[in-house]
Amino acid sequence: MSSQNIYILAIESSCDDTAASILLNGKVLSNIVASQKIHEEYGGVVPELASRAHQQNIVPVVHQAIEKAGIKKEMLHAIAFTRGPGLMGSLLVGTSFAKSLAFGLDIPLIEVNHMQAHILAHFIDEAGFSKPPFPFLGMTISGGHTQIVKVSNYFEMEVIGETIDDAVGEAFDKSGKILGLGYPAGPEIDRRAKLGNPKAFPFTKPKVAGLNFSFSGLKTAILYFIQKQVKMNPNFIEENLNDICASIQYTIIGILIDKLKLATKQTGINHIAIGGGVSANTGIREALKNGEQKFGWTTYVPKFEFTTDNAAMIGIVGYLKYLEGDFSEQDVTASSRLKI
Ligand code: KG4
Ligand code: ZN
Repeated sequence: MSSQNIYILAIESSCDDTAASILLNGKVLSNIVASQKIHEEYGGVVPELASRAHQQNIVPVVHQAIEKAGIKKEMLHAIAFTRGPGLMGSLLVGTSFAKSLAFGLDIPLIEVNHMQAHILAHFIDEAGFSKPPFPFLGMTISGGHTQIVKVSNYFEMEVIGETIDDAVGEAFDKSGKILGLGYPAGPEIDRRAKLGNPKAFPFTKPKVAGLNFSFSGLKTAILYFIQKQVKMNPNFIEENLNDICASIQYTIIGILIDKLKLATKQTGINHIAIGGGVSANTGIREALKNGEQKFGWTTYVPKFEFTTDNAAMIGIVGYLKYLEGDFSEQDVTASSRLKI
């Protein structure tokens, strides 16, 4: 079957990005993302507004993906869609659309778990990017997720650590909000961190047993620290912004690296594949690279457009499932708390 040319349309709508992609076998022909600017005004994703924006965007985004790929929709072999996890109202838009189109074209429908897709994004054929060998550890870090997953095979995954409260991206974004930075604050904290002293203001790392993470305590510690300093010096934030950003980022990186060290020790697996928007962070990338020398691990980072929320990663899972003949029933429903 793999010698055939298989065209897959993939749809992703789990959070605030409406995305569609066309894959020819493991290769991405088009990868369209409509990001919803509306949430910036609110400092976070507003579920009601997200669903409405998905409904507005979905047809043009799918249309554009098909057009950019230079194919006709009659050439599609299957439609893959994000079944969960995510915001229910957002998932419903992509799910309903995918079901209707698959029914209309009389082709198979393939449900995809968004968290598996972040990890399997590493298997998209892309020149210059190598694929991790099995078994490996997948670490997904974004505004919505923080997970370490033991990946034994394409479809054999086990979550061995995850956050018990905020995601790591939220730690960046909520800290940024305290400092008066725009949303999402991760990229600006990253930029400023390069100009500051990471040891200027030590923040204690949370004590969480095993491979789980916690970031809400750090956010509170930062809030109290800033409130106290501003009481003594109203210009404290402006005068020390780069140092504060560097210190926050340094603490977050320390938390992630500590857990990765423990995970490699516990599992004996030294291949680490990261994904999610926070994997764009220069400090994290540097720390992971340095770890190759220091701790003997090998790290894999996918092309950036395949690591933030996107539909190409849904498409690669769709393709792998297509090869297995693993199709969904017509009565499949979205599942906001879908587990790996
Ligand atoms: O994967 P993503 O685009 O969407 C989801 O949250 O699923 O990730 C967005 C998150 C935001 O929290 C944003 O602040 C963070 O990724 N982010 C960064 C950087 N670029 C994006 N965090 C730290 N450093 C960055 N360079
Ligand atoms: Zn995601």
